[in-house]
Amino acid sequence: MASSTPSPITKAIFPVAGLGTRFLPATKAQPKEMLPVVDKPLIQYAVEEAYEAGVREMIFVTGRHKRPIEDHFDMTFELEVALENAGKQELLDVVRSVKPDDMECIYVRQAQALGLGHAVLCGQRLIGNDPFAVLLADDLMVGPQPGRGILKQMVEQFAEWRASILAVQEVPAEQTRRYGICAGTQVNDNLMDVNRIVEKPAPEVAPSRLGVAGRYILTPGVFHEIANQPRGVGGEIQLTDGIAGLLRREKVFAFRYEGKRYDCGSKEGFLQANVELALAHPQLGPGFREFLHGLGL
Ligand code: UTP
Repeated sequence: MASSTPSPITKAIFPVAGLGTRFLPATKAQPKEMLPVVDKPLIQYAVEEAYEAGVREMIFVTGRHKRPIEDHFDMTFELEVALENAGKQELLDVVRSVKPDDMECIYVRQAQALGLGHAVLCGQRLIGNDPFAVLLADDLMVGPQPGRGILKQMVEQFAEWRASILAVQEVPAEQTRRYGICAGTQVNDNLMDVNRIVEKPAPEVAPSRLGVAGRYILTPGVFHEIANQPRGVGGEIQLTDGIAGLLRREKVFAFRYEGKRYDCGSKEGFLQANVELALAHPQLGPGFREFLHGLGL
């Protein structure tokens, strides 16, 4: 993993307590965040993105069946000894790089999946009074080039504006029901001062087509809002509603990131990510491309 300069954002919450029903049966007994895209589980992509942005405290909000995530970021003594004895240094490096020494992993339990807002609230005591990031690992985000991850771009915006930053992208009108949708005043080509955010609106009432992707930088004021709001869409405690409360008291910006998002919580998005990342993989790419050509693609 790349090292980085001191970051104003050093803590991140990874909510991984959802039920993953869209990916059944694969997620019946394992977390969707452990599904591999090419050769890495989804959660590792998100953790690497946060690390690149300068985050060092990774706070996982876990639920049932989430043990494999804890194991993944733990030391695997037997495996390391076996690889060392076999002289497989390259693989040993791969295993060790999953958790660099200066990265801390902390686990909090969300006893019931009451919604994303509730999951974020579970991290409140560990965050304290600092601004923090939230990364949804089932949104796999790929920057335009190495070293330009989406969270890193957002941290740069935070450093400039010192306010909450939401990653947004334009979504097709018929898909507004899948996203938090926001509207506001344009500050520059990539940034909007948000004055409205709605969770999963129908296309005819959506305030825009700017959908929030699974990356947020939030100020700690959001905890108070989440804790004092009624349940929202689907009977869940929604993060979007907490942000709607926050923007009545503080500035919140929507940032059009540079890069690509794969919705790996859906089977289609997951397959697309696998194909595109396999094609871009330095070792696997050429052979995989040939294989696809062989299929007449
Ligand atoms: P999703 O809306 O994708 O829900 O959650 P889900 O339960 O994981 O998946 P489906 O829709 O049933 O297939 C968005 C993110 O919020 C987390 C999920 O783990 C996912 O990363 N989440 C959601 C929680 O941690 N707790 C919750 O109560 C709800």
